[in-house]
Amino acid sequence: MKMINRLALIGLLCWLGSLMALPSHAAADREKLLKDPGVYATFVVFKMDEDWWKLDKTARVSAAAEVKAAFQKHSDSVITDTYLLRGLVEKADFFVRVHSPEILSNQNFLIDLMGTTLGKHLVNTYTFNGLSKQANYVPALPDDLKTAMKTPTDAGPKPYAIVVPIRKDAAWWITGQDGRNAMMTEHAAATTAYLKTVKRKLYHSSGLDDLDFITYFETAKLDDFNNLVIALERVEENRHNAQFGSPTLLGTIRPLDEILEILSR
Ligand code: HEM
Repeated sequence: MKMINRLALIGLLCWLGSLMALPSHAAADREKLLKDPGVYATFVVFKMDEDWWKLDKTARVSAAAEVKAAFQKHSDSVITDTYLLRGLVEKADFFVRVHSPEILSNQNFLIDLMGTTLGKHLVNTYTFNGLSKQANYVPALPDDLKTAMKTPTDAGPKPYAIVVPIRKDAAWWITGQDGRNAMMTEHAAATTAYLKTVKRKLYHSSGLDDLDFITYFETAKLDDFNNLVIALERVEENRHNAQFGSPTLLGTIRPLDEILEILSR
């Protein structure tokens, strides 16, 4: 009897030991990665090659399942958002926004994604890399604008995402901080009518890409977004936009499953 107890105890200890040896797979903290400075974002834009559409449906469905596993495998080190571009953007079907504190994690995830059966049919049309940072100009805004900039967007679904890459000219970068503060105050003032309908996020890209900024927006009201951009094109700071868009990406925010289902049809 004693022998049996001892064996049972050894068995229990082995089982506990094996549990502790398992990788934790704690999901990456989404809220934090979307809010904090010092987080690296990679925007990867893909188009399916022509051979993909020639595969039979069963092959495409099983390739799609492999893609889900690649996303799952990296969910402890990166957070991902998926967007459908097909039909709205000529050279692309979908894009993925990847965030992590180390761009190496973004790269490792993308290598696995591109290594799947579906991945081998992906044409990587564009890639943008950027970094979230503390605000540079907000601290110098007049108090009313500073307060306005904290306005949360209205609750409710915002199905559209727009990505606009931007490069500033040399004159912008050699303008003193006061001059840039004045121009960014005008920029912020032009946006106040759209604070409730357009959600935004800014990434800094200088040196990490051939860009200076990746600007990212979510909205339900594309007409507001259109008027917002027109308002911003009218301010002095716009003279310093050497590149605005080119490409502009307009897509719909969709879960991975839905995008894979569309690609498997
Ligand atoms: C509701 C809409 C928007 C608001 C409230 C807004 C507000 C701001 C504010 C406050 C900053 C300064 C951030 C800082 O302190 O570092 C800023 C920066 C910037 N915004 Fe906007 N913006 C909006 C839309 C846009 C749009 C539509 C674009 C272009 C497509 C744009 C392009 C930029 C760029 C490139 C910067 C970085 C400028 C720099 O650091 O030199 N913004 N925006």
